[in-house]
Amino acid sequence: MKKGLIIAAAIIATAGMASAQTVVGTDHDLSSSGPGATTNVNRVCVFCHTPHQATAANGQDPLWNHTLSSQASYGVYSSTTLNATPVDIGGATVGTAAPSNLCMSCHDGSVAVHSLYNPPNEVGTITISSNGSNVNATGFMTGTPNVGIDLTDDHPVNFTYDTALAVADGGLVDPASSPAAAALLNGGMVQCGSCHDPHNDTNSPFLVMANTNSALCTTCHIK
Ligand code: HEC
Ligand code: HEC
Ligand code: HEC
Ligand code: HEC
Repeated sequence: MKKGLIIAAAIIATAGMASAQTVVGTDHDLSSSGPGATTNVNRVCVFCHTPHQATAANGQDPLWNHTLSSQASYGVYSSTTLNATPVDIGGATVGTAAPSNLCMSCHDGSVAVHSLYNPPNEVGTITISSNGSNVNATGFMTGTPNVGIDLTDDHPVNFTYDTALAVADGGLVDPASSPAAAALLNGGMVQCGSCHDPHNDTNSPFLVMANTNSALCTTCHIK
């Protein structure tokens, strides 16, 4: 029994050590005890996910709860050397949103961060405090974290990255033979989530891996 308790305690301690890898306590924690903008809600996941009455079923939108932006067009990055064909994520409707639309629902600055499809039952109205963050008093993103409604000057997203693209470009890792590059794709596509993990700020700002020596970039680019 005692041994069992010690083992249980060890497991809890290990889980505690892993707690750096959680959304709780990061800038994506908008609960009453979050570090930046705070609300009168004591839950964390609810600002992005809900167990019930999420947006219409869509494999790309995991039980999504944050009001999507109605921005009709974000434009797409282009250059004379680009081989990929990014598709504009603007005009997404509930059920058709790309994974990158989920991020832009807060980060294009047009929807308040506490605007939800299915607000938590325990509070009547969600109230927000800026608390010195880049979220203003009415809940809109400002400053650097506000990516804005123009994606023509950002790393392209929402395009297929496959062997054909790697061959056409000549300077890209072939994801078919690189598990590391393939692991960064969502449905075979490059999205915001290829470089960012919204649940883990260990490699700030929410990067999927440390970018020392540009290791993130060289996972895909042979440069
Ligand atoms: C600030 C927004 C945000 C918060 C808060 C958040 N998530 Fe997520 N979550 C996302 C986004 C965005 C995706 C989709 C990522 C993608 O496709 O690139 C996602 C995906 C997921 C997925 C499916 C994909 C996977 O990684 O397994 C699960 C499960 C999940 N979240 C659970 C949670 C839980 C549990 C919490 C609270 C402890 C939470 N999330 C808090 C934004 C958030
Ligand atoms: C519910 C709203 C919401 C969603 C959805 C959301 N974020 Fe955020 N994000 C925030 C807030 C709030 C901050 C903190 C802004 C501040 O005060 O600096 C933040 C901060 C960040 C930062 C750090 C910014 C910095 O300057 O350090 C990154 C990077 C980021 N988010 C990326 C993403 C990505 C990528 C997704 C989708 C996978 C996403 N976010 C989804 C609300 C959101
Ligand atoms: C190819 C990788 C990559 C993709 C794709 C990507 N990001 Fe980033 N993002 C980064 C890196 C790296 C940084 C850190 C930049 C720095 O510190 O100068 C960053 C920084 C940010 C920041 C902090 C503010 C800033 O401008 O430095 C936000 C917010 C953000 N990204 C959101 C997003 C959103 C939303 C998407 C999808 C539309 C996205 N990112 C797609 C790599 C990426
Ligand atoms: C998940 C894989 C992936 C990651 C990670 C990634 N990229 Fe990319 N990036 C691509 C792909 C694929 C393209 C499209 C290349 C093309 O079509 O020519 C691209 C396009 C670009 C372009 C535009 C190329 C052009 O011809 O105009 C630049 C510059 C770039 N990436 C730099 C970076 C940097 C810097 C980083 C790290 C912060 C990074 N990328 C991380 C996959 C990635």
